[in-house]
Amino acid sequence: MAILVTGGAGYIGSHTVLALLQRGDDVVVLDNLSNASRESINRVEKLAGKQAVFCEGDVLDRACLRDLFAAHDISAVIHFAALKAVGESTRMPLEYYENNVAGTVVLLEEMRNAGIYQFIFSSSATVYGANAPVPYVETTPIGGTTSPYGTSKLMVELVMQDFAKAEPQFKAIALRYFNPVGAHESGEIGEDPSGIPNNLLPYIAQVAIGRLDKLGVFGGDYETPDGTAQRDYIHVVDLAQGHLKALDHLSKVEGYKAYNLGAGKGYSVLEMIKAFEKAAGKAIPFEIKPRRDGDLPAFWADASLADKELNWRVSRGIDEMMRDTWNWQSKNPNGFR
Ligand code: NAD
Ligand code: WQD
Repeated sequence: MAILVTGGAGYIGSHTVLALLQRGDDVVVLDNLSNASRESINRVEKLAGKQAVFCEGDVLDRACLRDLFAAHDISAVIHFAALKAVGESTRMPLEYYENNVAGTVVLLEEMRNAGIYQFIFSSSATVYGANAPVPYVETTPIGGTTSPYGTSKLMVELVMQDFAKAEPQFKAIALRYFNPVGAHESGEIGEDPSGIPNNLLPYIAQVAIGRLDKLGVFGGDYETPDGTAQRDYIHVVDLAQGHLKALDHLSKVEGYKAYNLGAGKGYSVLEMIKAFEKAAGKAIPFEIKPRRDGDLPAFWADASLADKELNWRVSRGIDEMMRDTWNWQSKNPNGFR
């Protein structure tokens, strides 16, 4: 039996494929390489000393899914494949709903046709919307999302809930990630955004390497201790481990269940800059800019449910996040290219 990992060549997917191979699981990766490089899987295989099966294809392509399910004995699917740029989603909502929502529906239909009912989904803290009390806890109803990207994640969770009610065999976990950062400690795989990064850590890392001049800090007047926004950053290797724990827990799930995967602690943008400077031994020039549209002042996870039920908690802190980001970026100044 193998695990199908959609989007497995991407940032979080590649770290999860590595963790699965390292514990001896067989893995099939399906990725259309729209935001990833085949090289990431080559490196994962080298690190693991074990091969994955790689299929270049799209989750919207039924024929491709049917061939894949016919050729491989798949026990569970971890579904990372999605478009993920919040700003872009406001300009291209239809593409986001098609890829993220319709893509998941097609995948679930073809899973059902193949008799596969175990499913783990990459959700996001963004499903709590703009008004949820902090820390975010799974008992807070989801909704009030502020971008088509966020709404696409919310919609998929609703699809999962309804499908679980209709189909007793379906066992599904939505993992709500907070802010994934860092890289594998080998420095062989990491986050490789195309174009100018939208997210904080890749931006800082590219300033450090000299690809960008200066960081813009979006907002210095929030009601936070230093005026900059706070987020719950989570090391991508801890996040990958969370997927293994969720897989192990699936058989105990009744229908659909959601878990926060976060550290349970917030850091401000200025704290992140300072921690990176310490790890890299380099100053990061920055300038306070106006707030970015749609940004929230501060949020972090109540991470106690995953601790209790999945036996999962983070074991890497801010120093490891920065050390591993810098190790990856300095070893691979141009990412996988
Ligand atoms: P990523 O872009 O690196 O990985 C996504 C992968 O999916 C890419 O390799 C891309 O080529 C592939 N893909 C996209 N559409 C596809 C399709 N239709 N068919 C097949 N493959 C397709 O992103 P990531 O940061 O690794 O995120 C993985 C998942 O986690 C996504 O669902 C994302 O929305 C979710 N998530 C990410 C974050 C984050 O900050 N990185 C936070 C919360 C949730
Ligand atoms: C973090 C903080 C910025 C860039 C996004 C998505 C969310 C989830 C994770 C997928 C914020 C500040 C950033 C920069 C800055 N993705 N910042 N200068 O916005 O918390 O979350 O990624 O599900 O849905 O919205 O992450 O890394 O973009 O920003 O000052 O150049 O850094 O304002 O306070 P965010 P981020």
